[in-house]
Amino acid sequence: MKKIIIAIDGFSSTGKSTIAKQLATALAYIYVDTGAMYRAVTLYAMRKGFIDEHHFEVNDLVAALDEIHLSFTYNEKVGFAEMYLNGENVEKEIRTLQVSDYVSKVAAVPEVRYQLVKQQQQMGKEKGIVMDGRDIGTVVFPNAELKIFMTASPEKRAIRRYKELIDKGDDVKYEDVLRNVQNRDYIDSHREDSPLRKAEGAVTIDNSDMGLKEQFERILSLAQRTIDAA
Ligand code: DC
Repeated sequence: MKKIIIAIDGFSSTGKSTIAKQLATALAYIYVDTGAMYRAVTLYAMRKGFIDEHHFEVNDLVAALDEIHLSFTYNEKVGFAEMYLNGENVEKEIRTLQVSDYVSKVAAVPEVRYQLVKQQQQMGKEKGIVMDGRDIGTVVFPNAELKIFMTASPEKRAIRRYKELIDKGDDVKYEDVLRNVQNRDYIDSHREDSPLRKAEGAVTIDNSDMGLKEQFERILSLAQRTIDAA
C-alpha cells in the first residue's frame, strides 16, 4: 500500500498529539511531535540562561544551535517516541508550564525554525509519517497528501490543559493556564516567520464539542480514503 504524509496543525492544546499518536499507531506510521522539538530547544535555552522572564539572548541561542542535538527514541512502554536533547530523555521536563511560557518566543526565531524544519523534512523523506505542529501543512510538507487543521475554543483548551497539569501533580491556576493558551495563540499566529494558519486544502476539525473517539474515527476514515486514492 502507498504511504502518505499526514500533516496535523492547529492551536495549542487541541489534542493534536493524542489524535496524531493514535492515527500513527493505527496505520503503523511514524509519529513526530514537532512541538516537542521547539520545547527541547527552549529547555536548552533556559538551562543555559539564554531566556528567562526578563530577557532573551537570541544571538546566544542562535550561536549555540549547532550544539543542540535532538532525537526521538521509541519507548514501548508508553507507545510513542520520546524526545531526547543531547542524549538525555527530556520528555517530562519539556511539558512544564515554564517551558510553555517561553516556547513561543523561541519558536519565533527564524534560525531555530530553519534548523528544525530541515530535520523534520528529513524525517518525512520515506513518507509513512504523521507529523503535528503549526506549520507542517504550510511550510514543512506543503505537498502532504492529507492536511488536518485542529481547533477548539481557548476556554475548552485551557480546561483540558489545566486538568492534565493537575493530574501530573503540578500546582497551577486555571487563569494562568488560560492566559498561557491565549498568549501562545497570539504569538503563534502573529509571528512573521511561518505563522499558524490553515494550510491550503486542509480539513478543519473543531473539537470544542467532540469526543476523542469521534475525532479519531473521522480522521482515520479521511486517512484511509486518502491512502486508497494515492
Ligand atoms: O504543540 P506544542 O504546544 O507542544 O508546541 C509548543 C510551541 O512550539 C508552540 O507555542 C508553537 C511552537 N511550534 C511551532 O512554532 N511550530 C511547530 N511546528 C510546532 C510547535
